[in-house]
Amino acid sequence: MKKLKAGIIGLGVGEAHIKGYHKHPNCEVVALCDFSPEKSENAKNKYPHLKICSNADEILTDPTIDVVSIASFDNYHHEQIVKAIENNKHIFVEKPLCLFESEAIDIYERLIQKPHLKISSNLILRLTPRFILLKEKIQKQEMGKVYYIEGDYNFGRLQKMTEGWRGKIPFYSAVYGGGIHLIDLMLWLTHDRVKEVSAVGNKICSEGSSFKNNDMVASLLTFESGMIGKMAVNLGCVQPHFHNLNIYGTEATFTNTFQDYGLYYTSRDKEIEPKKVKEAYPGAEKGDLICNFVDSIFADQEPIISKKDIFDILSVCFAIEKAVNTSQSVKVNYIYK
Ligand SMILES: NC(=O)c1ccc[n+]([C@@H]2O[C@H](COP(=O)([O-])OP(=O)(O)OC[C@H]3O[C@@H](n4cnc5c(N)ncnc54)[C@H](O)[C@@H]3O)[C@@H](O)[C@H]2O)c1
Repeated sequence: MKKLKAGIIGLGVGEAHIKGYHKHPNCEVVALCDFSPEKSENAKNKYPHLKICSNADEILTDPTIDVVSIASFDNYHHEQIVKAIENNKHIFVEKPLCLFESEAIDIYERLIQKPHLKISSNLILRLTPRFILLKEKIQKQEMGKVYYIEGDYNFGRLQKMTEGWRGKIPFYSAVYGGGIHLIDLMLWLTHDRVKEVSAVGNKICSEGSSFKNNDMVASLLTFESGMIGKMAVNLGCVQPHFHNLNIYGTEATFTNTFQDYGLYYTSRDKEIEPKKVKEAYPGAEKGDLICNFVDSIFADQEPIISKKDIFDILSVCFAIEKAVNTSQSVKVNYIYK
């Protein structure tokens, strides 16, 4: 079988993609790109057998490369995806896919013209063993009917906003950058669809810094089943990085905790101890979805994070950002038809 050749753009989290590609026996990373002279110089020393470049076009237009990882700053994703599609490359893009609805529609329409190309995104919480167990419980209806789901993306790394690239690029969205992980979890866990959202935001934590957008957004989601969701993204919280998740079913309640277990309640009686859900959290590394993505290329199947998933999740995120900016509730306009 011909080995797939991969190139990676952006060597922050992108460096973790190398291990992901190499977990697949029929895939090898051949090229890395970073426009920071320091990063590309380091890469030359660390990976002397790979092609190292500073201009993403050298990877995107290289006819020997079959698949690209796009792990550049968010504002470059759209243009790099478009070039990758034009040059017939499969794409593993860091979240978010892109920053504007018009860009997402553009990508969607280009992908329709090239249905053989696979695309996936790094919504890595899907591989968290604790959440996988919960999905099984929800599917088997062990929690009864889920009527309320609550997720907070508590970033706990304010300096990445106020000092790093997120505060320097023309537009950064806390919802697309962080909240997206919780939106993904909610849709995947419940297999439900969001109809409408309302949301508010503020930027009190990052006030006076170069970070231009809201660092705190709280949103309410109405799902098709009648379930209600609350998703908050809290970039400035004084707390370590944590994905707070509470799921309320008619028969059970789950709550994620800072301990090495989550709590699973099956009684309203405070004398009855909740069960400890000891499956690992987060329990997955950043490149762990990639082996499945490469498999999906060989098998011509959808990867774990499918094309539809990517567009559906982002469609909900676009509605939340719109709701914050218009102070009105917004119906989700699903891009993927
Ligand atoms: N899936 C996740 O859990 C996760 C976690 C962190 C970051 N991310 C995403 O990964 C992307 C990168 O974030 P990061 O945290 O790795 O940032 P980072 O600053 O640590 O690394 C990004 C690297 O990419 C390089 N770069 C940026 N734009 C480039 C371009 N156009 N051409 C060449 N090199 C470029 C930068 O020089 C930098 O070295 C973002 O889209 C971010 O949202 C995803």
